[in-house]
Amino acid sequence: MKYSWQHEGLTADQKAEIVLNEMTEEEKFSWLSAPMAIPMGDEPLPEGAIGSAAYYPAIPRLGIPAMQQSDASLGVSALGNVRPGDNATALASSLLLASTFNPQMAQLTGELVGREAFAKGFNVQLAGGANLIREPRGGRNFEYLSEDPLLTGVMAGHSVRGIQSQHVVSTIKHFAVNAQETGRVVVSSDLDEAAMRESDLLAFEIANEIGQPGAVMPGYNLINGEWASENDFLLNKVLKGDWQYPGWVMSDWGATHSAAKAALAGLDVQSGSNLDSQVWFDQPLRKAVARGEVSQGRIDEMVRRILRSLFAVGAVEHPATPFGPIDYMAHRLTAQREAEQGIVLLKNENHSLPLKKGAKKLLVVGGHADHGVLAGGGSSAVTPVGSLRLPGINFMGIETEKVFQPSSPLWAIRAESNAAEVLFAHGNDVAEAVRLAREADAVIVFADEWRSEALDAQGLELDAEKNHLISRLAAENLLTVVVLETGGPVTLPWLDNVPAVLEAWYPGSGGGEAIAGVLFGRVNPSGKLPVTFPASEQQLPHPEQVDPATTTSLPGSPVKGGIIHVDYNVEGSDVGYRWHARTGQAPLFPFGFGLSYTEFTYNDLQVRADGESVYVTLTVQNIGDRAGAEIPQIYLHPASKSYVPRLAAFERVDLQAGESKTLTLRLEPRVIANWDSDEGLWRIEGGNYVVIAAKNACAPILQANIAIKPRRFGY
Ligand code: BGC
Repeated sequence: MKYSWQHEGLTADQKAEIVLNEMTEEEKFSWLSAPMAIPMGDEPLPEGAIGSAAYYPAIPRLGIPAMQQSDASLGVSALGNVRPGDNATALASSLLLASTFNPQMAQLTGELVGREAFAKGFNVQLAGGANLIREPRGGRNFEYLSEDPLLTGVMAGHSVRGIQSQHVVSTIKHFAVNAQETGRVVVSSDLDEAAMRESDLLAFEIANEIGQPGAVMPGYNLINGEWASENDFLLNKVLKGDWQYPGWVMSDWGATHSAAKAALAGLDVQSGSNLDSQVWFDQPLRKAVARGEVSQGRIDEMVRRILRSLFAVGAVEHPATPFGPIDYMAHRLTAQREAEQGIVLLKNENHSLPLKKGAKKLLVVGGHADHGVLAGGGSSAVTPVGSLRLPGINFMGIETEKVFQPSSPLWAIRAESNAAEVLFAHGNDVAEAVRLAREADAVIVFADEWRSEALDAQGLELDAEKNHLISRLAAENLLTVVVLETGGPVTLPWLDNVPAVLEAWYPGSGGGEAIAGVLFGRVNPSGKLPVTFPASEQQLPHPEQVDPATTTSLPGSPVKGGIIHVDYNVEGSDVGYRWHARTGQAPLFPFGFGLSYTEFTYNDLQVRADGESVYVTLTVQNIGDRAGAEIPQIYLHPASKSYVPRLAAFERVDLQAGESKTLTLRLEPRVIANWDSDEGLWRIEGGNYVVIAAKNACAPILQANIAIKPRRFGY
């Protein structure tokens, strides 16, 4: 054996310790900070870097490969076109993934990302977006999963597990309560501990347990007045203390603000150091060690954590190298299957969908549907070869693009519909589109809404021109179907005037085919909303938004207007559907909502306590005449109604026509409990609880009662 860690039977911890003991101080510090591995200004690409978010040099004498880090959850991105001509499979937005309510799909698509990363030479993937969607207008909601901690945690955890199964470390990010993008580097998310533990932290906690991510990335934001990257409570107390997290904590790019303070608060690595006011985790940190402010033991711990995570996924034993084989055809099909499971049918009056095949003339309008499907902007944007690249925004000093990924809904509709003629209108010329609509058997209009990192959507409305176009088309043709490609919930002012609406989110590399499959019935829609669609902004806990003009979103920029405090204690842990339930406001579409071309019934709900666990059994039957998938959701609240119903379990179930299945689900105990900040533990109040089997957060079907014993549990 060549290297001292190459012995049978050693654990990741043991291997890490061996390597650490052989590393020089220079080698250790070469891993504690790095600039962005993209040529910026006069700074060239560091030698050895593939070109991506970050590069940390190899230590060949110890058999340790370089760390090459790339974004993100939705595929392997190439920010700023750093690797021109690079191909990659684009997965659908995380919102679509969460709409599948299918952890196996999260794992499968995670494996896909891990495989492509590995074959491109990356061994760290900056994936695992797990922030709760507290702000429906959030610019990065398409990178996050849902407004519910259980759904978010389970899906993020499986996605991370999939990536790491390919010898690639995954992060989980942006820890925590990083809910808005406008002014993201100056916003303090203010939230009491109990509410935080029951909501945003619970999502991360569950994801950590399932996925065991090798690294955690704190957000740009502050939490209760302390930067996430130097937040002792979050990093030392919760993450490394209560959760016994063994991996490393890397800052977001340009989100490090100090040396000793950050190091002592639990930050292990300064990422994107050229975006910060200085390289904190080199000379300043060395000086802090010399002064005795930071111990050598703490420096060793930082490096040990990195090594341990690399060994834990086999990234050292199986080094990633560029130019490996990638089966893009197979991956595209996986992306299509994901989209087919996650597209949500929001409205289908008089069974307007599926559309009949073999029409004389169909009209497709807007959304660059002749070219592809929209993707969200920023570091996560994946650009498969053939993408339509339009100007986006300047982001961290890099020009980003508004990308339409090459999966054309128009061409897929032509293939799937068997129509004699399928026309396309861009939609800019409304009169022309309306004229064509008059003669069409059906109109399919695409309403795209671009969101991007660093800037929230301003309001919940689509562009006024788009709303106008849809209204005009609907007035002209009674069979006008709207396909939404949005980065979050939007309002639909023309909803009463159209018979059918699909939410396709940003559907990725197989999105066009998936949309066409749903429209013409090859696919029976089964996605359910992972976020509430509010009826108006007035229903939100924070109707007012931070004005982008008063703030900055660029890391390292001076804090123009000072720190902005957003008081999330307004809703506390009652995010999304829980806020709506608490305030008695009926949303436009509730969390968990989604239609199918078939129908399902629920029967025989039974609840039983077994030791410390509570189990639910339920029989679901497909009573329609075609196969489909249903997602029964189990909500729970104390009979005393001391909190609003919370999602405690869910399961996706495939059923043939007429088929029924009996499911057994375990309720998540931390959803039954509340956090007791005084005692520092979870507390289940004993007593009677109401368990509800529901089709969505506003559609209870069956209910049962159970007496649950009081219980306290902690760490
Ligand atoms: C984003 C991170 C990303 C990093 C590196 C930051 O702007 O917030 O999510 O991983 O850039 O590209």
